[in-house]
Amino acid sequence: MRHSHLVASIGWLLAAGSTVVNGLCNPQNVTYSNESPPNGTYMPWVLMGAINNVPGAKQYITIVNLTPHRFVLQNTHSYQMDVFDWGDVPQGHARQNTVVYTSKAGKNAVDDGGEAYYAIDGTDKTFMVRAATHIPDAHPTRTVIDLTGMGQGQREYLDPANQSPVTLVITGSDSYGFITSIRFGAGNWMKNIYPVIKDRQIQHVVMPGSHDAGMSTISNKLRGGGISQNTQTQGINIYNQLWAGSRYFDLRVGSVHSITDNSDYSFWTLHVSGETDEIALGNSGESLDDVISEINRFTAESPGEVIFFRVRYLIGIREVPSRGPIYWTADMVNDFFGKLKGVNNRCGNLDTSTTFNQKPASYFMDQNGGNGCVIFLLAGDLTPDVPQDSVPDGIYKANLLSIADDWSNMGNTQDMAEDQASDWKAVSRGGSSDTFHISQWLVSADIVTTTFFTIESIGILPTNPALYWMGVNNMSPQRWPTVILVDYIGVVVKGQHNWDQLSAELYTLAVGLNLYMISENCDISTVASPLLPEGKSAMRLSSMAKPWNGIHYANGTIVDDAPRHSHPGRLEILRKGTRFMNGTVLDHDIVNPYLTSTSM
Ligand SMILES: *[C@@H]1O[C@H](CO)[C@@H](O)[C@H](O)[C@H]1NC(C)=O
Ligand SMILES: *[C@@H]1O[C@H](CO)[C@@H](O)[C@H](O)[C@H]1NC(C)=O
Ligand SMILES: *[C@@H]1O[C@H](CO)[C@@H](O)[C@H](O)[C@H]1NC(C)=O
Ligand SMILES: *[C@@H]1O[C@H](CO)[C@@H](O)[C@H](O)[C@H]1NC(C)=O
Repeated sequence: MRHSHLVASIGWLLAAGSTVVNGLCNPQNVTYSNESPPNGTYMPWVLMGAINNVPGAKQYITIVNLTPHRFVLQNTHSYQMDVFDWGDVPQGHARQNTVVYTSKAGKNAVDDGGEAYYAIDGTDKTFMVRAATHIPDAHPTRTVIDLTGMGQGQREYLDPANQSPVTLVITGSDSYGFITSIRFGAGNWMKNIYPVIKDRQIQHVVMPGSHDAGMSTISNKLRGGGISQNTQTQGINIYNQLWAGSRYFDLRVGSVHSITDNSDYSFWTLHVSGETDEIALGNSGESLDDVISEINRFTAESPGEVIFFRVRYLIGIREVPSRGPIYWTADMVNDFFGKLKGVNNRCGNLDTSTTFNQKPASYFMDQNGGNGCVIFLLAGDLTPDVPQDSVPDGIYKANLLSIADDWSNMGNTQDMAEDQASDWKAVSRGGSSDTFHISQWLVSADIVTTTFFTIESIGILPTNPALYWMGVNNMSPQRWPTVILVDYIGVVVKGQHNWDQLSAELYTLAVGLNLYMISENCDISTVASPLLPEGKSAMRLSSMAKPWNGIHYANGTIVDDAPRHSHPGRLEILRKGTRFMNGTVLDHDIVNPYLTSTSM
């Protein structure tokens, strides 16, 4: 198996004109660092409701390095900060940096600020991160990520809450070009890295996933008492989730029936306590019709992807939940299949003699003339006497994709994170425990706690950001989950769900794990990493790594061509009392020396 794959790769490389030896993955070329950055700190849940008041505000800034270059801290300066702790980020790792705005009496918080300057080792590229105040404002502290020195623009982030990190993910390389999380790239990210992933088993392609994906709204078709706080799991609809990178959808579909006439029903996405319960508590989200038109809109714009919908429930509930479930008849199943047949780029008649797991990504991506696959996997409560699948229509039984669906069912972020990381580290890639491993990076608190804090806050404030320092530092070229399934994908500030308010951390993490991390595993990826100069020529497709000179402001405004020397939050004058990384404290005001440096 492995041998024939190698032969195929060599043939392809010869065709591409490279020399054989240099075109192969070579363990000696691995750049992944074995150095562990210091552990980060989890945001205490009690802070979720707290406003980030400037004096004493503690802000974490996580920097993720999925490039073959070390990020070297060059210098910092800060004014009126009690803590300004930054450090190098080794290749394949993340560092949670810490900023504490002073709580000492007699300081005017308007003047607080600082900058950290990084060089990308072995290149002429640099970037910097600023901590700045914005007073008065509901979010009085901000983090500005300034990537001008690497040709990737700037973004001003609202600090989401006290001790809730802002995250920067960088992947790519000097030879390939850089991709960063301050903005989204192409919708069809898989197609854009086709040369890199095409020969990998589909279980070796990392993809973002959406927990209870249809619940981006509360549509009240089901009067089961569920409210947004405890029932809504996403902030953006399926169309935007696809754009935000999600390729694995936990979709729960049921029929909602009129109380007086059970034959009067329609299909809705649902989130309920137990779909077979006598009284199913919860609510409905998007309609199935909307989900279908959103999928079609996305695949028309961004063809070439592999998109899995694992469809659960498949059962009827009365609009006022009562008297237990209504199991679907064959007619209802066919009615449902009829809806799914409205989805374009389904993949009928795939080879079902083995599970999909080990089939190469190209097997799916090449279907429909290169437009890729939307694959439905049914995992609901259908009784044995009704149709279970429709293979010619691309509707399969769920067991055709053999998954390890890892749900911790734990009530706090740290326990969940440690459980998830230890589970994906137990999967030996290429070995007997290799699988399509789904990390459910989400917390399942009790109903009272969840309603109090809200699913949104629990997801976006303490839980999703921990993925980038704790999760990433527990990954390596050998150890990673296939799917990273989250609540509120793309959302980083509470209530900010418009496209220009979202952020591309999970998108960039998935692209980076595929481009960088897995490319350094020579057992799984036999060809040279696309991020090394010698791997670049054959592997590069340009549109993922476009230079950009814009500014994305915290209010959502995006300016594509920023005026030269425009840097939000930058201090022109470094005041007396400013502290540098080497401990020097200024005894008089000076002009910020970095103002005049050429690349910035
Ligand atoms: C990778 O290793 C091979 C063999 O040691 C060497 O010839 C090649 O230059 C290396 N490539 C890079 C990008 O370091
Ligand atoms: C970091 O945390 C891990 C547990 O996640 C622990 O095993 C390790 O000892 C910690 N390292 C340090 C330096 O505290
Ligand atoms: C957003 O902020 C920028 C920079 O402060 C400003 O130029 C722009 O007018 C603001 N846009 C809106 C819609 O308020
Ligand atoms: C400390 O750093 C500052 C700013 O980079 C520099 O001007 C100063 O000379 C340094 N001091 C020492 C003692 O190295």
